Amino acid sequence: MKVSILGHGIVGKGVWEMLRSNQGYEIRNVLVKKGEKTASFMTESFETVLEDDSDLVIECMGGIDPAFEFTSKCLEAGKSIISSNKALVAAHGIDLMNIARRNGKAFLFSAACGGAIPILQNLCLARRTDEILWAGGILNGTTNYILDSMDRRGMSFEDALAEAKALGYAEFDPTADISGLDTLRKIMLISMVAYDVLPNSDYNIEGIQNVSALDFEVAKELGCTIRLVGKCGLAESGRLYAYVQPVLCDMDSAYSGIRSNINLARYEGKNSGLMSFMGQGAGRYPTASAILRDVTSVADGQKQMLTEKCLVGFPYNNSKECERNYFIRLDASTFASQIGSIPVKKVICEKGGSVFAITEAVTVKAMHDLAAELRRHGAKLFFAEKKED
Ligand code: HSE
Repeated sequence: MKVSILGHGIVGKGVWEMLRSNQGYEIRNVLVKKGEKTASFMTESFETVLEDDSDLVIECMGGIDPAFEFTSKCLEAGKSIISSNKALVAAHGIDLMNIARRNGKAFLFSAACGGAIPILQNLCLARRTDEILWAGGILNGTTNYILDSMDRRGMSFEDALAEAKALGYAEFDPTADISGLDTLRKIMLISMVAYDVLPNSDYNIEGIQNVSALDFEVAKELGCTIRLVGKCGLAESGRLYAYVQPVLCDMDSAYSGIRSNINLARYEGKNSGLMSFMGQGAGRYPTASAILRDVTSVADGQKQMLTEKCLVGFPYNNSKECERNYFIRLDASTFASQIGSIPVKKVICEKGGSVFAITEAVTVKAMHDLAAELRRHGAKLFFAEKKED
């Protein structure tokens, strides 16, 4: 197979190295940024890739512009596409799938969700013979690294983030990690593959930007730690739910056992039961290994991960399947003045000028709406789903 690569950064370089050491692949061109051509196999001109005789183009550029333009042009020119770019697939996955189908070419993107973890390809298979009740998990290495470092190493948020950046886990703009956007994009991809729905705009998203050392102190007293989890699933009504939020989980739970930058992707099939995939969710060779698996799948004849039915849809996080108890930390003065609007089940303690409490079961949407309303009034708060198991 003749292959060209768009991008020669962390992932692109790993793909290039792995393809070179695997027999059966001929690398045609590698597109690099202007001024970065240092070897004869590199080109700074996209047209050179478009006009070469490669059958397959691997996109590892990141970002949407010009990645969307380049990948669509390659598909139109009769080349298959493999992408590791979650922002591109979350924004234009359905468009690219349609262009690929129209041209009879492949469009695969395993590496865009979970690095080396084979969650998307497994969902592709499982959804054909089983009903996927829900899917998600810990899908961001940077935030897991920060939470785990704050908990076990007593580090500050800022120092832990600086380490995650230095280790190459964080996005170019780490606010995408911290705010939960990176996890959300991965949930969008999972939902497209498992449910034929690209959740658009009505999801609820809460990152880890508000977590403090005090939250870990109180969590520890409860025998818990904190993780960031994304989830999507089908409610009984048949409607999709999709959200990202911190979770307060017992120290002996599967989520608590996920340390450092490791990811834990999971789904529950009606017949298979709970399936868990744990491993490196980022980094050069883990991500490149998922791309190489997609290359093999293209060689074996796989064309798509998305079905023709895949459409944009609006998640609904207000159903009974989305009812959760929450751990909440609120500054004491707001707590006193807003007590009527907060469904408190039990006050845990008062510490450092804040009140810590567990709420009655409320829906994900109700909790995120309440937090937004309290913040509009200037409240400083942190909340996390309190997992009972
Ligand atoms: N910034 C991402 C993470 C990279 O930390 O998981 C892999 O998607």
